[in-house]
Amino acid sequence: MKFFIDTANLDQIKEAQELGVLDGVTTNPSLMAKEGITGRNNILKHYVDICNIVDGDVSAEVNATDYEGMIKEGEELAELHEQIVVKIPMTKDGIKACKYFTDRDIRTNVTLVFSAGQALLAAKAGATYVSPFIGRLDDISTDGLSLIDEIRQIYDNYAFETEILAASVRHTMHIVNCAKIGADVMTGPLSAITGLLKHPLTDSGLAQFIADYQKGNQ
Ligand code: E4P
Repeated sequence: MKFFIDTANLDQIKEAQELGVLDGVTTNPSLMAKEGITGRNNILKHYVDICNIVDGDVSAEVNATDYEGMIKEGEELAELHEQIVVKIPMTKDGIKACKYFTDRDIRTNVTLVFSAGQALLAAKAGATYVSPFIGRLDDISTDGLSLIDEIRQIYDNYAFETEILAASVRHTMHIVNCAKIGADVMTGPLSAITGLLKHPLTDSGLAQFIADYQKGNQ
């Protein structure tokens, strides 16, 4: 299972990269705005900065919502760096744009996916990644994980190569359960990734080992 970090914060990306378990980064317009990255040139530069930190795919989202606009923006993003994956919204124009990029060997991530039918369409259009938002489904009393399960079954039935990128991950158990189901990738905050480190028995066991070593090695 690949681990992507879902942020545009360079310090957090560096911290995850230094941990040695990071496979990529996802961003979106809200995450860029949160870091105060505005203006086309600054946004493009920020994507290159991210690519220079991480060894892996970096999803950069188009802001246009019409087909021509998405093509223009997506081509500009793809030319920035070989690690860039063009992130496109799950709309009619988005699916058309996804097919356009697939035909030109430009990698894509179809985002804002909330149903198995949408994921099927993304795979048909040749998306590199499909991003079902499990946390946002949980937020409205729907089971986000069962969507991952449904998509896994559909993709396996037809050997679709599109990778399931479980997005909107909020905590450690989302990651563990996505891994059990067989999501190819998860993207979440640094806190969910580092949360996997924690167990009280590890802490108490280590404290005991240190104490016993110190007793015999005064
Ligand atoms: C996906 O790529 C999105 O950037 C992200 O996972 C959305 O997460 P949120 O629901 O926590 O905003």
